[in-house]
Amino acid sequence: MTRIRKAVFPVAGLGSRFLPATKAQPKEMLPIVDRPLIQYAVEEAVAAGITELIFVTGRNKRAIEDHFDKAYELESELEASNKQQLLEIVRNVIPKNVNCIYTRQPAALGLGHAVLCARSIVGNEPFAVVLADDFMDASKPVLAQMTERYDYERASLLAVQDVPREHTRQYGIVSAAPYREQMEIVNGIVEKPNPEVAPSTLAVVGRYVLSNRIFEFLENLGAGAGGEIQLTDGIAALLKAERVLAYRYEGQRYDCGSKLGYLKATVAMGMKHPETGEGFRQYLSELEVCK
Ligand code: UTP
Repeated sequence: MTRIRKAVFPVAGLGSRFLPATKAQPKEMLPIVDRPLIQYAVEEAVAAGITELIFVTGRNKRAIEDHFDKAYELESELEASNKQQLLEIVRNVIPKNVNCIYTRQPAALGLGHAVLCARSIVGNEPFAVVLADDFMDASKPVLAQMTERYDYERASLLAVQDVPREHTRQYGIVSAAPYREQMEIVNGIVEKPNPEVAPSTLAVVGRYVLSNRIFEFLENLGAGAGGEIQLTDGIAALLKAERVLAYRYEGQRYDCGSKLGYLKATVAMGMKHPETGEGFRQYLSELEVCK
């Protein structure tokens, strides 16, 4: 039985909605309180039993590679000044049994293209795709919810949530038939439809478990919505060949690709963080605008 061992993290987008913060670093390095978005995403994947992390990077790849690499100078300075707690934080960014592999997307041609860039590293097995800018706050990590379902269903899974109809043009939208609790069978998917033609309001968010056959279909795709090679179009072709399931995840998603979503995530996590929680909640309760 094939377990999901590999996760692809596409981090090669332009992040244009966050310029100039993303001029010299990927948006996935933006921090929520004290950890960059990509670290939360990696922790979620590791909690789901993933041991191979495949980063598809773009022009600003250094920051992510450095973040997950050993930091000799920093570690020896922290050691010399006996800052044990900080040393542990730096050393534990990634568990020892987990491998990081980097590949490059030569140009930001779209999410489908970014996933295709990982083909030779993924090899011949099913895999996960995690979009770190969709920040998930969940008591059971969302990817672990999905890999558990995968173990039973042996079919591709898309994380979905209901969105207001006026937001359909921001998402891939599925049409689906009821299946099991929290799950539906996908029979169609379309990228960023206008509200009046959207087949439903069930939107795909940034967590996927995909059959390896997705690569065959991505390879033959032309540009889709927005002139980009869309993962959604690859999935549309896949679901004609194989079963694809939509999974209504449990948890709260924050769209950290947008400024507002990012701010909301920062507030939510700031209120929960062991160091800042109490003081931050106190501060918020005192704010005039909150009264
Ligand atoms: P987005 O469309 O949200 O990211 O892609 P973007 O293009 O970086 O953002 P804006 O719209 O310009 O602000 C979703 C995910 O897919 C990755 C992004 O890094 C993000 O994690 N992506 C997108 C790629 O890796 N390559 C691409 O060509 C496009």
